[in-house]
Amino acid sequence: MRILLISSSYNGLCQRAHVELDNLGHDISITLALSADDVRTAVALFQPDLIICPFLKEKIPEDVWSRHLCIIVHPGIRGDRGPSSLDWAIMNSEKEWGVTALQAVEEMDAGDIWATATFKMRPGSKASIYRREVTHAAIRTILETVERIESRDFVPEPLDYANPDVRGQLRPLMKQSERKIDWEVDNVETILRKIHAGDSAPGVLDTINGEEYYLFGVHEESRLRGWQPGAIIAQRHGAICRAAINGAVWISHLKKKNIDKVPFYKRLLGHQKQLEFKLPAALVLGHTLDDIPESPIDPLYMENDKTFKEIWYEEENQVGYLHFDFHNGAMSTEQCHRLLDAYRRAVQRPTKVLVLMGGTDFWSNGIHLNVIEAADNPANESWRNINGIDDIVREIITTENKLTISSVWGSAGAGGAMVILAADKVWAREGVIFNPHYKTMGLYGSEYWTYLLPKRVGPVKALELTETPLPLGMKKAKAIGYIDEILPDTYEVYQAQLRQKAEALAASPDFGRLLGEKRERRQRDEKAKPLAAYRAAELQHMQMNFAGKFYGGEVNYHEARYNFVHKIRPKETAAYLAKHMRLDMARFNELRQPLAY
Ligand code: COA
Repeated sequence: MRILLISSSYNGLCQRAHVELDNLGHDISITLALSADDVRTAVALFQPDLIICPFLKEKIPEDVWSRHLCIIVHPGIRGDRGPSSLDWAIMNSEKEWGVTALQAVEEMDAGDIWATATFKMRPGSKASIYRREVTHAAIRTILETVERIESRDFVPEPLDYANPDVRGQLRPLMKQSERKIDWEVDNVETILRKIHAGDSAPGVLDTINGEEYYLFGVHEESRLRGWQPGAIIAQRHGAICRAAINGAVWISHLKKKNIDKVPFYKRLLGHQKQLEFKLPAALVLGHTLDDIPESPIDPLYMENDKTFKEIWYEEENQVGYLHFDFHNGAMSTEQCHRLLDAYRRAVQRPTKVLVLMGGTDFWSNGIHLNVIEAADNPANESWRNINGIDDIVREIITTENKLTISSVWGSAGAGGAMVILAADKVWAREGVIFNPHYKTMGLYGSEYWTYLLPKRVGPVKALELTETPLPLGMKKAKAIGYIDEILPDTYEVYQAQLRQKAEALAASPDFGRLLGEKRERRQRDEKAKPLAAYRAAELQHMQMNFAGKFYGGEVNYHEARYNFVHKIRPKETAAYLAKHMRLDMARFNELRQPLAY
């Protein structure tokens, strides 16, 4: 079928839908819902058999939904309607939630139901549940809907609130007054729920030292305590710990309210920048935390307490597991230094296999663009950051006393998708998406990708992957040799299989031979071209990017980073996504002025 995806942004779910439908052989084009006319033009040019909206905040124009079958993927159970579905599900402590694929009609989310899927809720942020459970269920409903449409004999179910199976209801947009934390009254469980429900957007508005901030990234603390609810009682790795009436919570990120954005072009004219985006809490609060004590933890030897931890290590049956769960998968210079230190110590442990676990939502998304944007000198900070990641990659590649595995449960982008390849083996979850390219950020890239990627997929595919900024699904990743194994999409099953396979590798009679072969391969490669030479060449390109020179003449890194961090919407859908624009440029121009519909 010819399927047009209409989406508010090319987010993780839209990328996954793109990959899955493409795998099934459908002809896919994508348009961002930047304006009603953009949508109309895409429809007129592509003439789709079906329109699917995996993530849509805007309304589809009536002349589109009345003439074409449009399926909206709604992150709610049957009958649920409104713009804050997941927020309410978390706030109301729903035990089970779901995703519904419905037909677009005049009233929002009230069309006939083509498919639904449910899942068990777990404690976690809205974004985390969206990336794991919602995405999993949404893909099921999308694929089921497509199958039903193709069968031509399925009749969708009208929404009927008299049906006892319809448990959902129309709910309003959740307001800040409903999200607000009353520190004198709310217990830890309520605070966690409130912050989770607004994370990653819009956050919970709160006051700290007389200033208003949005709160993100909440974690329960089981040891530290303070007398004054709401007071900051400790800090750790950029996060702050605040007392509650019955315990304490960590808050990792803040965004200052109501700061005027300084547009990028004004920055170039020397206007002072404002930190009007999400950042580690300590970076936002600065000197006001001078008297707040640090609360250190050792990632290698940690009690099983609830607390804020980004890096931690566990060990069983000769296998070590190093977790690095950085918020949004972004790795700042300091985070890289801490990870390198933890990695070196993990390598010293008497194990045979070391598994790199990454984080639960993202394995890694490379250098920390927000922290770089906030730095006094972003070019210098970019340089420190990329060298920080490169040091980790070099350490993994040159590990001689262990076999290493990248266990990829969360998706990965840019440099993060290259770091994965530093390990000897790559095992990834079925639903993972890689974005192994730097071009959209105006970067050449480092992380030894010029050594690691062609070694795995060959020089032609390496070029294809890095030059066309498209997402890569795991079926294709396995077929081209990017990864070695695909593990199941269900968390518990994934973890069980991972551990079983890693332990089997450690106990394998072939272990000694495999380790020997690894060392020989590294020596051969080093002789052919030293790692330092790959790094130097990559960093030379990066230096040009950081200096503001364009890579490939298309994108300026500092402007691209500004737009990314400030969430500036693009002016048009990128040509590599909008296949319809490539179909008939002449017809496209004709349709644009005035739009003939
Ligand atoms: N630095 C800082 N923040 C990052 C980040 C990075 N490298 N990569 C992702 N994020 C943040 C996003 O801003 C977003 O923040 P939010 O919590 O305010 O919503 C969050 O992580 C999720 O990212 P999003 O883009 O919504 O996820 P996605 O699944 O739709 O897309 C990527 C994933 C990797 C394609 C996309 O995030 C991306 O292009 N990241 C930039 C990668 C990069 O260029 N790194 C630098 C070069 S090494």
